Amino acid sequence: EKGGYDNFMLKEINEQPRSIRDTMRGRLLVDEGVIKMAGIWDNQERFLNAKRIIIVACGTSYHAGLVAEYMIEDFARIPVEVEYASEFRYRNPIIKKSDVVIAISQSGETADTLAALKLAKEKGAFIFGINNVVGSSIARITDAGAYTHAGPEIGVASTKAFTAQLTILALIALKLGKHKGELTNEKFNLLTRELERIPDLVQQILDSCEGVVDQIAEKYKNNSNAIYLGRGYNYPSALEGALKLKEISYIHAEGYPAAEMKHGPIALLDENMPVIVIATKKGYYEKVVSNIQEIKSRSAKVIAIVNEGDLQVTSLADDVIIVPETAEEFSPILTAIPLQLLSYWIAVKLGKNVDQPRNLAKSVTVE
Ligand code: F6R
Repeated sequence: EKGGYDNFMLKEINEQPRSIRDTMRGRLLVDEGVIKMAGIWDNQERFLNAKRIIIVACGTSYHAGLVAEYMIEDFARIPVEVEYASEFRYRNPIIKKSDVVIAISQSGETADTLAALKLAKEKGAFIFGINNVVGSSIARITDAGAYTHAGPEIGVASTKAFTAQLTILALIALKLGKHKGELTNEKFNLLTRELERIPDLVQQILDSCEGVVDQIAEKYKNNSNAIYLGRGYNYPSALEGALKLKEISYIHAEGYPAAEMKHGPIALLDENMPVIVIATKKGYYEKVVSNIQEIKSRSAKVIAIVNEGDLQVTSLADDVIIVPETAEEFSPILTAIPLQLLSYWIAVKLGKNVDQPRNLAKSVTVE
């Protein structure tokens, strides 16, 4: 059942080209210039007239929500707020009938996310679910939804469900952008063509980066801390990278927007602090380069995720992992892969149980 892999986590990491493709199948019709999603189409009025979209989620699903905020605002120009479900539900939030509330949840059973949705429903908002588990509690109470077709995720740490969430959120953002008239046909076609390539690019990363990531894991496995940095679309990637490392290797890690470094975390830097920086070409590359210079001048080690052909960051960093270039908006799907693998290899080298990390449950059905 582990398909020849040592554990479910590695199997699920390697399944991502398929799970992403399955999530797009029948929806992304590039040649027709169409994205088919009944849950959105049937409720067009609610979405296109929404004054605001509120996304509620927990953990990794919350990180997918943060990327969605950037995509939906960028493509469709609808204001988006992303909230931890546990905070949202208890803070007397302002919810209007003109709001669309989207819950993102792999399991569809997370207690806080479910409760946040129920609250939104009571207040008359339109509630939409993005779930991986068919027929789950969230899927049943929502007005409409769209499933990620990642297949069952057994490893406690979310991997393929996350990239499937990013995929479906990209489809939703593109569809809303098109119907709102905010994306030109030309831009829409360019982006959908790029999105269609993502499964192949993920496969390319899986084929090429395992050896490099293994070496990096060996080099840094005994460090007790790590900092993850990214900007723009890859700021949530930094948060997700840090969460993955914490949960399966039990190494303390923090994710930050790269520019926030100088507002405090920079005090932590010395030769014992590895800093993982997402430095792909688009999206403030030059600014990330200067962030890396600041880090290097404090003697910290830099592990950078860069694009093919990168020279500047490569000359500064201690270690690099290369991923192919894509549209900035979809780059978090690609950068997630080496970050998953890095946590995976560190945890395995430390002898941890990657499928069932201590203290964690696959679905958190109590608040
Ligand atoms: C992290 C992880 C958790 C879940 C969170 C939400 O790897 O798995 O942070 O993402 O508990 O779970 P779902 O998506 O099922 O609502």
